[in-house]
Amino acid sequence: MGEENKTYEIVVSGVTKRFEKKEGSFLALDEVNLKIDKNEFICVVGPSGCGKTTLMNIIAGLYPPSTGTVKVRGEVVTGPGKGKGVVFQQYALYPWLTVEKNVAFGLKMKGVGKEEREEIARKYIHIVGLDKFAKSYPKELSGGMKQRVAIARAYATNPEVLLMDEPFGALDAQTRAQLQENLLNTWQQEKKTCFFITHDVEEAVLLSTKIIIMSAGPGHVREIIDVGLGYPRNQETKLTPEFNELKNELWNKVYKEYLEQEK
Ligand SMILES: Nc1ncnc2c1ncn2[C@@H]1O[C@H](COP(=O)(O)OP(=O)(O)OP(=O)(O)O)[C@@H](O)[C@H]1O
Ligand SMILES: [Mg+2]
Repeated sequence: MGEENKTYEIVVSGVTKRFEKKEGSFLALDEVNLKIDKNEFICVVGPSGCGKTTLMNIIAGLYPPSTGTVKVRGEVVTGPGKGKGVVFQQYALYPWLTVEKNVAFGLKMKGVGKEEREEIARKYIHIVGLDKFAKSYPKELSGGMKQRVAIARAYATNPEVLLMDEPFGALDAQTRAQLQENLLNTWQQEKKTCFFITHDVEEAVLLSTKIIIMSAGPGHVREIIDVGLGYPRNQETKLTPEFNELKNELWNKVYKEYLEQEK
């Protein structure tokens, strides 16, 4: 199949985004082009304000680009939903629903019957290790547990694409390591196309098949790095020389971006 006929999972073509602010018009994204293969695990890194969240929101269909298009599986994105699961930085769970009901919520919206959605919810609650908390309410859970519920919920609707905006940003190092492992296991068992934003270079190398480095002023893609590390991966992967070599390389590149932004 020729390159031009290949169907990518996500294609971002000539995307720019202008926000109208009081001070005038602000260019947040300038001419972003990306082609993402099915089941790729993409991590996006770059300094604060370089447009990571903006790009993710456009892919999610939460708002349109100013120019350009995003296609998911060959179809132009015109709104949210339809095969896209989103996990935000702050766990957006329904406080009045139990863990089980939160995980099953999207399935209910899709019209899946009660028994089937309970079965699916149980499966993902098990994968994220929360069996004992299926009947608990969000307020009874720690931050890390809530984030695991959010991931289970995103997985439960079986989206083609999973979009995650710094999902582990607010967590302590221990919980974060646990959830990285959890997400890795889930993804290794059931592949999906993931678009995962993080400020943590180590996290990016551990999770991803490719890393997108973005730069600010205005936001654009600076470089795409292939992470050649094999799978399965787990926390011990962090101890290997290959891992550390890549991490240092990425750190040097990203650190430069942060310094340039300080100027
Ligand atoms: N709705 C909006 N209205 C106006 N300006 C916005 C809006 N959303 C984002 N911006 C601006 O666009 C730029 C990119 O923001 P964005 O949130 O995408 O950055 P980011 O890379 O996700 O940063 P962080 O790492 O801090 O989350 C910022 O300068 C921000 O102020
Ligand atoms: Mg952001």
